[in-house]
Amino acid sequence: MKRIAVFASGNGSNFQAIVNAVKREELNTSITLLVSDKPGAFVIDRAMKEEIPTFVFAAKNYQEKANYEREILKHLKANEVDLIVLAGYMRLIGETLLQAYSGKIINIHPSLLPAFPGKDAIGQALKAKVSQTGITIHYVDAGMDTGPIIAQEAITLSDKETRESIQEKIQALEHRLYPSVIQHLLHKKEVFHQ
Ligand code: GRF
Repeated sequence: MKRIAVFASGNGSNFQAIVNAVKREELNTSITLLVSDKPGAFVIDRAMKEEIPTFVFAAKNYQEKANYEREILKHLKANEVDLIVLAGYMRLIGETLLQAYSGKIINIHPSLLPAFPGKDAIGQALKAKVSQTGITIHYVDAGMDTGPIIAQEAITLSDKETRESIQEKIQALEHRLYPSVIQHLLHKKEVFHQ
């Protein structure tokens, strides 16, 4: 069975959606590792409850990105991870991981990329008063939300939307689409031959 690692920095509702999809047998994979750069993040509690091993680090304890990424890489190798799934991981991936897992790192972003990359995509969409926004799942490269797009899904916005109402719709979409895209990628050869 193909094995995945999830990287997350915060609440981890997408991590939980992936775990739940595995339990429901809609996603055939083994989640062998959670990587988090935020000691104390709620996603770590979720992983412990699910008995999924974690590697938690604080970037400030390392001189540079390559140092902690080498450490992450050891854990990925030890757990024989095939695919890295970023789910609210608030850091750019560096050369160490990009080279070791070329074409095997994906991310989910709460906008229709290339619109609204980076932080607070929902706030950016609200401010721009767009009538549609959505979510994007894409391969990860060295840029900020710039890699090749795998899947997108849109939502229509009324003029009464708030940040909370948009977030609710976006997260419902994310929780459905991410597990199904992971399933698709893991069971198709293209994921490893972009
Ligand atoms: C998601 O909206 C995802 O698109 C973005 O970060 C958020 C993570 O939410 N990259 P959660 O921690 O999975 O609840």
